[in-house]
Amino acid sequence: MSEPLTASPDLVAPAVSELDTIVSLSKRRGFIFPSSEIYGGINAVWDYGPLGVELKNNVKRAWWRAMVQERDDIVGLDAGILMHPQVWVTSGHVGSFSDPLVECATCHRRYRLDELPGAEDLSATDLRDPGVVARLGLVCPNDAGPLSAPRQFNLMFQTYMGPVQEEASIVYFRPETAQGSYVNFKNVQQSSRKKIPFGIAQIGKSFRNEISPGNFVFRMREFEQMEMQYFVRPDEAAAAAFEDWLPRRRAWYEAYGVEPTRLRLREHAPDELAHYAKKAIDVEYRFPFGWKELEGVHNRGNFDLSRHAEASGENLEYFDPTTEEKFIPWIVETAAGADRAAFTFLIDSYREEEVKGETRVSLALHPELAPYKVAVLPLLKKRPEIVELCHRIKADLKRDIMAVYDDTAAIGKLYRRQDEIGTPWCVTVDVDTLEDGAVTIRDRDTMTQERVSMDQVKAVILGRLAAARP
Ligand code: GAP
Repeated sequence: MSEPLTASPDLVAPAVSELDTIVSLSKRRGFIFPSSEIYGGINAVWDYGPLGVELKNNVKRAWWRAMVQERDDIVGLDAGILMHPQVWVTSGHVGSFSDPLVECATCHRRYRLDELPGAEDLSATDLRDPGVVARLGLVCPNDAGPLSAPRQFNLMFQTYMGPVQEEASIVYFRPETAQGSYVNFKNVQQSSRKKIPFGIAQIGKSFRNEISPGNFVFRMREFEQMEMQYFVRPDEAAAAAFEDWLPRRRAWYEAYGVEPTRLRLREHAPDELAHYAKKAIDVEYRFPFGWKELEGVHNRGNFDLSRHAEASGENLEYFDPTTEEKFIPWIVETAAGADRAAFTFLIDSYREEEVKGETRVSLALHPELAPYKVAVLPLLKKRPEIVELCHRIKADLKRDIMAVYDDTAAIGKLYRRQDEIGTPWCVTVDVDTLEDGAVTIRDRDTMTQERVSMDQVKAVILGRLAAARP
């Protein structure tokens, strides 16, 4: 391992002490809304508003850049959400993709055992122990009623394919994108002529019927994953690939601005490992509600491909032309969540500071992640020549990047609004512009202003964006 697995939860403060600060900013400014809100909402599904969809798309683009575009050894895939149901039997999800559920005998509320006060640090073995509730004297947090013994609750969503609703037509909504990459291993390897080691990257929706979703978009029932499966030679090669990918994935968050001290690594205990994993280390982030998983790096051994080969009858061996050996590749997986990453970037970039007696709120988002890269603002909206110039500058910028015009308040307020949604640069057109053809570019983080010739604005902004790119 390239660094020790550090853990000092009490010494590291979250970037934002109250989650509500981010929830209300998200709603107010159009990042994230509760789904179906006019009908009272639906638990654990969230909708991304005009700014949220830009942020999440930028997060996915940044991941794709690092994991596909800049790599010669990784290619992309977009597999279906619905797959042959046997995939999920073979993968072990139908049998064992479950969490321990307990139910209150009086109010009938259901809880995930390890989310109950007093049970957060239980080992995986304890979580399966039928006597654990009595042994620890756990009671319902709602009405102190008695809780049932834990039972394993399967997290798979299912539906029926075709017009007949019968057992034989059950299909599952995928709970991870990974299986799409495994069943396409041969198709991708042969069509792209990749030699091992190589990877398959996917971004897409996954679904889990979580027992206790919550903490805003941290745990949802419908969410998006960004997963990469790296196919390698058995054993030592997998261990080496694991050691290579783990620091890379942590560094990706840091490169996009996450404060390094709010990231740490946590290795899964042997009894906690998922059914497919030989080794797993989570990159954790210090959320306002504690240290939680942001991304997992897993050594899955040859579990997946050998099970699929056996169950499908297809030969999923790889022939190594240099050593003339045949083998089932091992897989090292990097498994991230697009929502969880976007959420982390939102929280970690939140700033409050005192400026001239007022609180300035800003999102110090990395420019690549910011929903708008630039806002074009008139100092005087009553002067048609100024407004006209603003629209010309904005239209030119919009050919390359997300730019916005706003004239609905005085300039100080317009700046504050852009700060609060993380726009890195504001371009202001004023009366002098009409004389000297220069505009002001104001920086979100330093609030410094620079006069730049109008013809140079786009080149300057694009240059700054390129310079900021990790
Ligand atoms: N293919 C392996 C796998 O799915 P995982 O640790 O269960 O591993 C990977 O999930 C990532 O997906 C997590 O680290 C998290 O970022 C995201 N994720 C998982 N469940 C989620 C949920 N219910 N809501 C939001 N994101 C979730």
